[in-house]
Amino acid sequence: MTTITPWEVKGNINYDKVMSEFGVQKIDKALEEKLLLHCGELHHFLRRGIFFAQRDLGFALDQHKKGNLFLYTGCGPSGPIHMGHAMVWMFTKWLQDKLDLELWFQFTDDEKFMFKDQSYGDIQKWLHENMLDIIALGFDPKHTHFLVDTLHAGLMYPEAIKVAKKVTFSTVKSAFGFNNENNIGTIFFTSMQAVPAFLPSVIHKKKMACLIPHAIDQDPHFRVTRDVVEKIGYYKPASIQCRFLPGLGGISSDGKMSSSEGTAIYLTDTPKDVAKKINKYAFSGGKDTVEEHRKHGGNPDIDVSYQWLTFFEEEDEKLKEIYDEYKSGRLLSGELKKILIDKLNTFLAEHQKRRKTSDSMIKKFLYKS
Ligand code: TRP
Repeated sequence: MTTITPWEVKGNINYDKVMSEFGVQKIDKALEEKLLLHCGELHHFLRRGIFFAQRDLGFALDQHKKGNLFLYTGCGPSGPIHMGHAMVWMFTKWLQDKLDLELWFQFTDDEKFMFKDQSYGDIQKWLHENMLDIIALGFDPKHTHFLVDTLHAGLMYPEAIKVAKKVTFSTVKSAFGFNNENNIGTIFFTSMQAVPAFLPSVIHKKKMACLIPHAIDQDPHFRVTRDVVEKIGYYKPASIQCRFLPGLGGISSDGKMSSSEGTAIYLTDTPKDVAKKINKYAFSGGKDTVEEHRKHGGNPDIDVSYQWLTFFEEEDEKLKEIYDEYKSGRLLSGELKKILIDKLNTFLAEHQKRRKTSDSMIKKFLYKS
């Protein structure tokens, strides 16, 4: 069984089916060209179909041309940041730089408190930790505004109730699969996640368009948001959506990618952690013995290390070479894993160095009205 909700993703995901169930569109050739025109180049996540789906992306780009677009994304703080989260924000930063856009970054500490079995104190600790990582990803503090749901409640709540008044319990039940046992905070919550999609319009006192980069599991929130915000006088937010980074062990017996199963790599992992996890858990598409592997070659399409390189090796030529070498049997599983380990550790070393200076910058990022 496949489940995709904002709070649970499991099973093998057929992305075409999800797209049609959710009612989102593919990023087609025409849109790709339009993106290229606006951005000057295509991020490898776009070239490789990792960001693959969208709502109203064409409209958002038209508004960009008129200087009337902002970006919005977010983080639910309930644990350490892993590479699957980070990839969405790396792409968001790329969009921010290429399109020169203001970014509104929401931290839904209220959400995680109400949905998870964690104390308020624990969530606040993760909120702080997660901010350090997000700042270290390199966002420009002049154009990036953090909104923390509990901290900015005075600003957000008057807008959230305008949304909440237009969302029925039955809409929320069907969008998120809730039932009568859900606590009442979870039922209200989606109205908080709707707010940053139009808050900048309130603040700047003009009707602006919003583009939301996010993983496809968040789409149900924005489906609800789109219906409501139009009724209260704003544009429906546009979105650009990605598939999931597979978990390290995340390939099932039928060879399909699974989503969040298996071990994750955290942005705070040491080089040793990374090597250990990948060597131990990354599902291999290699053969059982070196002789067999040399003779028949490996299968990169089900090899998690190779799949991870499609996310984190930017250069198409290098990636193709790895693919060919592995398939032909010249490159062994252990060697492929080593390429991924080095790639991740190079990134993490830089990231962790920047993270040490993040704390003093939090103040600059928190939105002040
Ligand atoms: N609900 C998201 C999470 O659990 C966090 C979030 C809030 C978000 N606003 C967003 C994610 C906008 C993407 C886009 O992680």
